[in-house]
Amino acid sequence: DKIARRTKNIVLIGMPGSGKSTTGAALAKLLGREFFDTDELIVKAAGKSIPDVFKDDGEDAFRQLETAALAEAAKKSGAVIATGGGIVKKPENRRLIRQNSTAVFLDRPLDALPADGRPLSLQNGVEALARERLPLYSSWCDVRVPVIGVDGTINMIRELLRL
Ligand code: S3P
Repeated sequence: DKIARRTKNIVLIGMPGSGKSTTGAALAKLLGREFFDTDELIVKAAGKSIPDVFKDDGEDAFRQLETAALAEAAKKSGAVIATGGGIVKKPENRRLIRQNSTAVFLDRPLDALPADGRPLSLQNGVEALARERLPLYSSWCDVRVPVIGVDGTINMIRELLRL
């Protein structure tokens, strides 16, 4: 019902470069919701950039910070939460999302994903990453939204979630 739709968080998942942060920020603004970005929360918590966390502390440490960031944001009510593409690497994150959120998979064509600025996650190639992750995004999500442009994506999310 209407109240449930207002109190549930909206969690955006999908490949790096699929538009989770851009779409999430715009959607939150439009709906007057709080916006969180797990990558941003990690940078704040670690006091350094994501590449530096990977370089200095390793991926395991990064994933721990990521789960802590998600746990913090997922406690909210009615927030929009953009995640990192690797959020599906930890089953624990799925439980956090299921608590009080609707998961939206931003499904952008692989050839439209920008590879620049994302050396860490895309260094083994977008195809390998997609093979591993697309099935997870699909099974974790409540709704799947094909990404065309920001406006079209937002409209479709609003329509599907009746927001
Ligand atoms: C990662 C994706 C990045 C960021 C980190 C790891 C991944 O987020 O969390 O570099 O493993 O796919 P974006 O999906 O916003 O690029």
